[in-house]
Amino acid sequence: MKVFITRKIPVIAKDLLEKNGLSVKEFAKDRAITKEELIRNTKNVDGIISLLTDKIDSSIIDNLKNCKVIANFAVGYNNIDVEYANSKGIIVTNTPDVLTDSTAELTIALILACAKRIPESETFLRDGKFVAWKPQLLLGVELKNKTLGIVGAGRIGREVAKRAKAFGMKIIYFDRNKREEFQNDTGTKKVSLNKLFSTAEVVSLHLPLNEKTHHIINKSNLTLLKKNAIIVNTARGEILNENDLIDLLKQKKIFSAGFDVYENEPNFNKKLLKLDNVVLLPHIGSATIEARNAMAELAAKNVISVLKKNKPITPVLGD
Ligand code: DGY
Repeated sequence: MKVFITRKIPVIAKDLLEKNGLSVKEFAKDRAITKEELIRNTKNVDGIISLLTDKIDSSIIDNLKNCKVIANFAVGYNNIDVEYANSKGIIVTNTPDVLTDSTAELTIALILACAKRIPESETFLRDGKFVAWKPQLLLGVELKNKTLGIVGAGRIGREVAKRAKAFGMKIIYFDRNKREEFQNDTGTKKVSLNKLFSTAEVVSLHLPLNEKTHHIINKSNLTLLKKNAIIVNTARGEILNENDLIDLLKQKKIFSAGFDVYENEPNFNKKLLKLDNVVLLPHIGSATIEARNAMAELAAKNVISVLKKNKPITPVLGD
């Protein structure tokens, strides 16, 4: 049976697939695969390991003749029409858990980078502007005793909250479900989105992207933020109306914002480059050696499981 991997991922995946008797082809070029290349390479395969940059819609799915499993090398799966794939008997899987710590750590790094103005301070020094220590130079904000609002208390959101507790932060959250265990563990409470935005000094976004969450963060809630507020997004760019946030940042209505994800990746909004109250990262939430190896291993194991007619390890269902 044949498996196609849409871009080079840690070799552990290919090794594992081959050890299990599967024939593996990996897209050889170091760039995202085009739609035509994807169609050409997947027509007769039994399984696919895809990336979040591959849009797997009905036109791709209709072209699959033998495919039984699409294993997304990401926890997010908004790039795949899961419902349509399922309707064609194709199982879709993702890589939850294994990237939670990496993404939670990155989120904390982004919050700290915003609060302490780290990139801005480094640029200041590199530009030769550090000529004297000054009492008012590059003043940041402290996290202790501030409130962190977690928007989406799934695995990553909850791990961010745990780490923020160690900084002495109070936690509130917004989620469609009540998270009893999380509430008991962190002494947090569920609030409405508007309450969260008007209360928290730091807001961290962790919602999945779907029809209900597209632009859920927009002017109506962003304008509730306090002047010393920080907002960071390590989830998906499209849950946030970027232009609305840029307007606030331009007018210095909030302290700063940290972005790891953007509305039109990789063609992010170039207006962001003109702002000094932002920290901009190139979607590196899960970019650790540990997480990426574990993601490759889990994606491969999902493919093997399905092709051996066992249950997928981490299947996803349509929203
Ligand atoms: C994911 O897994 O969804 C991240 O955004 C990328 O690793």
